[in-house]
Amino acid sequence: MRRLLDKVMKRSDKGIENQPKTPSPLHELSYSDLSFMNKRGFLAMKICQYLQYNDEDYLFLKSFTNHTFEIFNEETQQKEFILYLSELMLKWSQQNLDIQQQVKKTELRNDIQNAMLKAYEMYKLELFSPAIGKDNTVTHNETNLDDIKWTVYRDVISAATQGQFLLISKEEVTEYKSGHVFCEGIIKDRSDIPLCRNHAKDSIENRGFNKTKIMSWLLVLSEAITNTIKHGEGGKMTLIEDVENHEVRFVIEDKGPGFSLEDLPKQTLQAGYSTKRSMGQGFTLMMKMTKQVLLYTSSKGSTIILIFDSGE
Ligand SMILES: Nc1ncnc2c1ncn2[C@@H]1O[C@H](COP(=O)(O)OP(=O)(O)OP(=O)(O)O)[C@@H](O)[C@H]1O
Ligand SMILES: [Mg+2]
Repeated sequence: MRRLLDKVMKRSDKGIENQPKTPSPLHELSYSDLSFMNKRGFLAMKICQYLQYNDEDYLFLKSFTNHTFEIFNEETQQKEFILYLSELMLKWSQQNLDIQQQVKKTELRNDIQNAMLKAYEMYKLELFSPAIGKDNTVTHNETNLDDIKWTVYRDVISAATQGQFLLISKEEVTEYKSGHVFCEGIIKDRSDIPLCRNHAKDSIENRGFNKTKIMSWLLVLSEAITNTIKHGEGGKMTLIEDVENHEVRFVIEDKGPGFSLEDLPKQTLQAGYSTKRSMGQGFTLMMKMTKQVLLYTSSKGSTIILIFDSGE
């Protein structure tokens, strides 16, 4: 562990060394100190949660006791290491470094890297946005430009996939949700993945669909459900039969941070592309096994709709 820490610390920013190491009473801390500690504690809490460690609250409070967690006490080293990593991420952000790249450059275990990457993805607006400057002013988003980009991406992705992959709007999601709902499930953590999958399996079998299709339907459903946990904090699945159009639609919704517009073509179309330490195969499978994949995404969440032919 020590060697690992040393390695990571070699890359840490020099600014840390200049900071006072001794804790100060809370009332003596400046607003920017408090804000930094608050962000660091929150980040550590989230990383801990994604790693399924139990010390979230301890870490959040602990963040307010020290200016820096560069120095470790052997007993609490393990726990404080997460605070140190959170501190490092915030420092990278202050230096305008690419946080995803920096995390991947570390020699940390994959699960720790993934937890850091996920915390970054989930909270980049709140914690890392360069738009929130030193003076705490928020610069407004380039909404119009984003709208134009969205339309271009939608057209390009649709053309590249001969209409199999479509970016849709929130209103369109509502249209695709019409039909007979024959199964629903909530995804809160990893243990819900097999539960939802089995629940879906029973419901699909009960409706008497062609058995040879069920395995592939369930496989891609699992991919989409897993993504809500891996790239968000869970969500909801709704299985719908649309008799009129001979279609079955699996709607998987989450309240995660959404897909970034710039990365969308790679995330969805390039086999092997992942923003985590993962295979990046989920979308490739979805594209192989479905009639159509629809995606609505915003910074408040995403909805994936997997469409299958219900006929024989
Ligand atoms: N629900 C989601 N919310 C936000 N981003 C997502 C979501 N699902 C997928 N992504 C993005 O799309 C990328 C590609 O997803 P895909 O399922 O193909 O790969 P992966 O989940 O990273 O790896 P694998 O599925 O092979 O374990 C992800 O790395 C992530 O950046
Ligand atoms: Mg995936």
